[in-house]
Amino acid sequence: MKRSQWGSRLGFILASAGSAVGLGAIWKFPYMAGAQGGAAFILVYLAIAFTLGLGLMAAEMALGRAGRGGIVETFRRLGGRAWALGGLLAVIAGFLILSFYSVVGGWTLAYLVATVAGTSLTQDPGSLGARFESFVADGARVVTYHAAFMALTVLVVGAGVQKGIERLSKWLMPTLFVLMLVLIARALTLPGASAGVEYLFRPDWSSFSTSTLLEATGFVFFSLSLGMGAMITYGSYLDGRAPLASSATWVVFLAVGTALLGGLMVLPAVFAFGMDPAAGPGLSFITMPAVFAQMPAGELFATLFFLSLTVAALTSSVSLLEVVAAAVAEALGIGHRAAAWMSAAAIFAAGIPCALSFGAMSSYTVFGLTTFDLFDAISSKLLLPLGGMLVAVLAGWVAWSRVAAQLAPSGAAWLPAARLVIAVIAPLSVLVILLHGL
Ligand code: TRP
Repeated sequence: MKRSQWGSRLGFILASAGSAVGLGAIWKFPYMAGAQGGAAFILVYLAIAFTLGLGLMAAEMALGRAGRGGIVETFRRLGGRAWALGGLLAVIAGFLILSFYSVVGGWTLAYLVATVAGTSLTQDPGSLGARFESFVADGARVVTYHAAFMALTVLVVGAGVQKGIERLSKWLMPTLFVLMLVLIARALTLPGASAGVEYLFRPDWSSFSTSTLLEATGFVFFSLSLGMGAMITYGSYLDGRAPLASSATWVVFLAVGTALLGGLMVLPAVFAFGMDPAAGPGLSFITMPAVFAQMPAGELFATLFFLSLTVAALTSSVSLLEVVAAAVAEALGIGHRAAAWMSAAAIFAAGIPCALSFGAMSSYTVFGLTTFDLFDAISSKLLLPLGGMLVAVLAGWVAWSRVAAQLAPSGAAWLPAARLVIAVIAPLSVLVILLHGL
């Protein structure tokens, strides 16, 4: 069977940026930065993103184009039989991430529907908080929206790489960017917004600790879609011999930039309303509706906001499903579409306990974590760094000559620096992070 391909380099970059930019940038980043001391967290995040993150991004894309297969197959082709196990680990990570990711994607979809119906806005953050809590505890509704979100995801993935994922990203990424700029302009002109801007850009190192480092590294993996073969899988659909380094740089730049924009969209508003920047996952669902309730045409802006959140989530969820589906298709020798639907069904099922983690199953915990938090912790603190380590060792040691040929076919002055990051710095720092996490 002929392997699918991207239609253009732009399509590849937008699809990869679409994978990276997601709930991580808009939903997770503001509350993580809020909880970890604002600018201090952000500076650490930026430093790690442009060294470790960029190196691994380039490495993944290069491995993908060199291996030209699903993640398990690519690991086996480039590393040998034992490496297939590493690929399997990546597939498991994608499976776990998508099961809780789709739950949050479902929340955004539900809020979008409620906003269009005109029932989501009120000026009182207290009642918005209560409403959010009763919504996420409402099992039937959250599971329904989780199903709807998975259905959207599988419809796109099932349509194929070029007709599904690439087309979606080409339309939605520019749209997302414009929506965010409009919303930021509104947030920044709220009275009292400057305290939020200051919080974002003036570092408070007193709140800095090793856990900031751990959290920031975990978030670099999550927000750049690294460590589980998303960029390997996307890279495998890339044709030609054009150097990959600039594509990788573009994707990191777009992803990090969007996370900062996400912070600018949410945190100033949090401060303007005197709310707690460390409020956690509810931040975008409680704070933002309160903001919109106060502005002219607020219903419209709220609709745009939840639309952008849903859009960002969808371009990411398709990449998670694509990794799993491509590997399943290859392992079972079945078609891409069938593999996508099978994988989606299994992920939907695993997502149900995550969906119920804030209601019916909230007291069902492992290590004190609900299923939702457990899947999140296992994937971002354990599996993604571990996957990143494997990618680094495979790219930096085992298959370096092929990776280098992908990154700069006729050599480049920065190649030794890239190798230093990929082969030495990445495995060492990930090791420290992993040990600390355990
Ligand atoms: N990067 C996405 C976000 O920030 C989530 C995501 C998509 C992801 N694909 C991934 C995270 C692969 C880790 C690995 O929302």
